[in-house]
Amino acid sequence: MKALIASGGRGTRLRPLTHTQNKHLIPIANKPILHYAIEAAVDAGIKQIGIVCNSDSSEVQKAIGNGKHWGVKITYIPQKAPLGLAHVVKIAQKFIGKDDFIFYLGDNMVVGGVKRFIDEFEKSDCNCFLTLSKVKDPERFGVPVIKNNKIVRVEEKPKHPKSEFAVAGIYIYDHHIFEAVKNIKPSARGELEISDAHTYLIQRGYKVGYSEITGWWKDTGKPTDLLEANRLILDNIQPKMSGHVDKASTVAGKVILELGTKIINSVVRGPAIIGKNAVIENSYIGPFTSIGNDTVIKNSEVEYSIVLRDCKIHDVKIRIEGSILGNDVEIVDASGKPHVHRFMIGDQSRVEVA
Ligand code: G1P
Repeated sequence: MKALIASGGRGTRLRPLTHTQNKHLIPIANKPILHYAIEAAVDAGIKQIGIVCNSDSSEVQKAIGNGKHWGVKITYIPQKAPLGLAHVVKIAQKFIGKDDFIFYLGDNMVVGGVKRFIDEFEKSDCNCFLTLSKVKDPERFGVPVIKNNKIVRVEEKPKHPKSEFAVAGIYIYDHHIFEAVKNIKPSARGELEISDAHTYLIQRGYKVGYSEITGWWKDTGKPTDLLEANRLILDNIQPKMSGHVDKASTVAGKVILELGTKIINSVVRGPAIIGKNAVIENSYIGPFTSIGNDTVIKNSEVEYSIVLRDCKIHDVKIRIEGSILGNDVEIVDASGKPHVHRFMIGDQSRVEVA
């Protein structure tokens, strides 16, 4: 069994963060989203991982490396343009060869790993094994049409979904998937849809099984998904106190304080993670917050948020909540007269003021 992980695409729904970084490298609880996919494969005992990445950037290769860190071999497969997930599979045929493989969308996160699905696939005589998750908004996803406990078709982003399930971005295949991805045609949006490949297999009589993900699963396509994923990961962290907390401060609940972090006259209420050499002074950090390395927060309050590295949050009078701040962002007091809001914001940013 090999693993194929998709890390390409443009991440348009996560702009402006994705103007300067690949969406799969955005950290959740201070760890790139892509690490969670790699670790799921590693935990399932997989030794060979292929990562499909954008051919015009070496960002993913630089950030992830050759896999030595996890004791696996990572092979990079460049994709020239985002031509769809079935196209991702198509260009990986040489890497996969005749092996079975798990195809994992690098922006998906699932609790409990993927070994249980691989075990189910291996015990079955399925050619393709899909994972389904009940969602409130199936129209955003590939949706299975199920009759008598069998998937009879998969529809991609249907206006009128025929079930309350999404097909999650964790698929297991034997080599027949390559026949499917070669024979389907691009959809109206010009992509080779993975859902069409699944429907092809079903219509040709191949066996397509499925299992429901009963725990937590998330496709981190939108900013609110990132915050939710961050909440869930933080909820499951092991506390660690490598930083320094002064006597006037309180740190309560599950909190990771990385090396070199200083908590001065502040309250940190977990679950939360505060990265290396960050400084929290006269401030409050509330539950479900991730603070990146070298970020400095003074005289301010932050809760249920993701703040990346090297940010400055100083003297902000209203609590910051439900927010995502990229690298090197500054939110500071507007000094002088007139008393105003003053913005210096890049393309496609969003600010909500009280
Ligand atoms: C893709 C697939 C869709 C699947 C989803 C899971 O959608 O096309 O079938 O349900 O991933 O995350 P996308 O996230 O590219 O919109």
